Amino acid sequence: MIKLLVANWKANPETLTEAVRLAKNIDYTGVVIAPPFPFLDGVRKVIHKAKLAAQNVFWSDGPYTGEVSANQLKKLGVRYAIIGHSERRRNLNEIDAIINKKVTAALNNSIKPILCVGEGPELHKSGDHSKVLRFIDNQLKLDLHGIRNPRGVIIAYEPIWAIGTGNSDSTEHVSKVVALIKERLGSVSILYGGSVNPNNADKFMSIAGISGALIGGASLKSSEFKKIISISKRY
Ligand code: PGA
Repeated sequence: MIKLLVANWKANPETLTEAVRLAKNIDYTGVVIAPPFPFLDGVRKVIHKAKLAAQNVFWSDGPYTGEVSANQLKKLGVRYAIIGHSERRRNLNEIDAIINKKVTAALNNSIKPILCVGEGPELHKSGDHSKVLRFIDNQLKLDLHGIRNPRGVIIAYEPIWAIGTGNSDSTEHVSKVVALIKERLGSVSILYGGSVNPNNADKFMSIAGISGALIGGASLKSSEFKKIISISKRY
């Protein structure tokens, strides 16, 4: 069953006015909106059915210039946090040890982590499926180190080569990754992400074990996002 559609707005839109307009248009049950930090509170005030996510979280309050803590987010009504997105791993050198601290802090503050894992383009091009699976398995091991109940975590499988590129993964490959995640973590919720749009949403949502999608580009156009919502209702 498709339970969650997460709208990852990244560093968009430009203004709070636009953010509020967009949020009102996609305020449906099962939708989770992840606006940039400055728009979290404004979006919170106008949504009734959708839930709120942060795109990142820090593991502590206190002297950490520029950071926002899990505790602050909890007090603001944030229910989910995207953690370990490949754009942060790549551009900000966010390593697995940091991601592990963030997942732990989110759980300690009753925020559900949406942990992103996935292989990069080089590994994908190698065509070596078992190497890809080992890579993802290692990310899960490191990112969830010491987490006693991984079922509180949502895993987003996002092959990096499919993010923002229009490239679309094969259902066979996604199924193999789903099987690996279930084997390691039991019955966790698994999202698929990477250029999900109204033309391919059907393909990903029909994969057994997939409970939703993490959507970037298409979540910024409410007409496209609404089409994905109606496709999700079939599953
Ligand atoms: P995309 O982004 O849908 O634009 O590929 C997904 C993501 O990065 O979470």
